[in-house]
Order: sequence, then structure tokens, then C-alpha cells
Amino acid sequence: MDRIPITKPVVTEEMIEASAQALRDERIVLGESVFKFEEEFARYIGTDYAISVSSGTDALILAMIALNVRAKEVITTPFSFVATATSIIHAGGTPIFVDILEDGNINPSLIRLTRETAAIMPVHLYGYPACMDEIIEAAPDTRIIEDACQAHGAIYNGKRCGSIGDIGCFSFYPTKNMTVGGDGGIVTTNDKCLAEDIRKLSNCGRTSRYEHDVFGFTSRLNTANAAFGRVQLRHLDDWNERRRSLARHYSERLKDVSEIKLPSLGTHNVVPVFHLYVINCNDRDALANHLATNGVDTATHYPIPIHLQPAYREVYDLGPGKYPQSEHMSTTALSLPLFPELEYEQVDRICDLIIDYYEENG
Ligand SMILES: Cc1ncc(COP(=O)(O)O)c(C=O)c1O
Repeated sequence: MDRIPITKPVVTEEMIEASAQALRDERIVLGESVFKFEEEFARYIGTDYAISVSSGTDALILAMIALNVRAKEVITTPFSFVATATSIIHAGGTPIFVDILEDGNINPSLIRLTRETAAIMPVHLYGYPACMDEIIEAAPDTRIIEDACQAHGAIYNGKRCGSIGDIGCFSFYPTKNMTVGGDGGIVTTNDKCLAEDIRKLSNCGRTSRYEHDVFGFTSRLNTANAAFGRVQLRHLDDWNERRRSLARHYSERLKDVSEIKLPSLGTHNVVPVFHLYVINCNDRDALANHLATNGVDTATHYPIPIHLQPAYREVYDLGPGKYPQSEHMSTTALSLPLFPELEYEQVDRICDLIIDYYEENG
């Protein structure tokens, strides 16, 4: 029987041909496809502007440089991909961690603003929107950068993630809900000045061909990648619907396994996009081994919370015990396979294996 991978990007001839055509017909850097992709992505998210860049990490870094967080603090979660916090450091700021709720997102009731707080960066973890209303309430008049790198298309109270705060940042890394056929990222905003600053920062700090009035980066999305992304974007809603449907199927099949905590399927107002389908259980590693032995790949997002990563422990003098919910989830979270081309029969096979495992080990 074939192994079931944890994820698999959709790559079609149409996407490959769109990239090839862009290479043949357009400027290789900053060609027409880049601007069309930005326009279409901004329209999809519901913002006035979108500026494409070369990764999700760069999207976050440039967003925070534009917000001028240098020598200030940015509140964020320790339970995310490490780039969430590292981007704050690259922008000259200091990450201040706040522990999470049971759904893995930042806990608004633990947010404490200080005179040094420049911004808050919630992450819509696994494609599940963070509690944005409560975050805004806990931090009025504070800039909000949404790390929407896992949440392309997710909806919170009628708005797409990435259009709720001051700035939204997305990644197009190939495992994400949509990709550009390589690394890439995009920043969304309704603020014209921020949009102009971020575009300038991404393009060597240029005001014109030979004039540079800020210290910029070379962080542009290549034309061929933008052309690829335009085709992907047209499929995003269908793929997200498929992810939700597969997630419902998992949850229906696993609902009686008392040893497992299942992820929320959302509500009328909160529509997740299941970048990942993550269950929580106390014997995570043993269950992962059982699935691996039987041909099912799994992953752990994330086995080491950011504050316990070696670089952070050393520089910020952090250690275990500070963010208990994050530390707990780092030992219990298990990501099961989920991607648009996954078949319902494959979900059945995975669920049968989990049910068998707990019949023997429960
Ligand atoms: C939550 C989160 N933030 C930031 C990033 C960084 O994006 P990239 O890998 O495109 O730099 C990722 C993706 O890997 C992510 O999942």
C-alpha cells in the first residue's frame, strides 16, 4: 500500500505553462504577472494593497521595519514557526511572548501592554483565526500585524485573515494552502504609506532607478513564481473547501476516541482553512510511530516552542515553565495528513489505524 504523505502541493501543467510563458514573454524580475498577482491577491483578501516579497519571513520583517519596531517590543506567541519571532529580532525589536489558548492561538487575556509595546503579532495557527476582537480590545491603539502565513482564505467575522489588523503577512512556501512554486510571500494592507514603504524596502530601498532613500533589501517575488501563484489563487477556495471537508471527515471518524482532543471545526463566524489538521494526545510519539510503521507520515507543529529554542534561551534567558500551555501542546500536538488531493478512503485508513491503536493501548 502507498505511503500517505503529510502534505503534497498541487502542481498542474497549467501552472508550469503559466510560469514558462511568463519567463518567455515578460521581464524576469518585476514583470507584469507580479503586479497582476498582487492585484488579485489584494482583491481576494479584501485589502487595498498587496506587495509580493520573496518569503513569508521577509513579509514579516519588512512589515515590522515599516512599522518601526526598532528598540521596541512586539507581543507574540511562543507557539509558532520560529520565523514569527525571529522576524521581530531582524527588524530590531524584541519579542515578548504571551502564552496560548487551547486552540493554539495567543491568549488575549494574558496580553499586557507596556510603554515599550510597539505592536502585537497574532498568528492564525494551523489556519484557525486568532481571537481578533479580543486582541483588539486588549490592545487598543496598538498596531497589529497578522501572521497569516498559515491562513490563506480563513474568515473571521466576515473578514479574511490578513485584512483585520494593520498588516497581514502570508507565506507561499510549498506546504502552505497555496504556493508560488517555490519560496515567496506577500504583505496585505489598507494603509497606502505602509504599502509604499514595504514596496520600497523590498526593492533595494529605491525611490527611482538610481536613487535609494532607505536601506532596503532585494526581496521581490520572481515573475515566474507570480504567474504560478495566479493560477493557484484561482483554486484556493475549492482547495480550502476540500480541506474543511476532509477535516470534518477525520473529526466524524475520530469523535469517539476519548484519548484524542480534536481541533475545532469553526463556527458560523470563524471559518478555518485547515492548513494542518492537528490532534492532541498524551502518547503523541507512540501514536506517530504506530502510524509511521503502517505507512502514514505525520509531523509535529511544534515540538520545541520558540522560547525554548537554543538561540532564544541563550539570548533572552528563557527556560521551561514560562509558557505552560505552549510547552504542553509541544508534547501533545500531532499533525495528520491533510492536502487537497488526499482521498476520503485515505482518511478512513488513517482513522482505522488510530482507532486500532487505542483499542490495543487505550
Ligand atoms: C506561522 C508562520 N510564520 C512565518 C512563516 C515563514 O514563512 P516562510 O517559510 O515563507 O519564510 C511560516 C512558514 O513557514 C509560518 O508557518
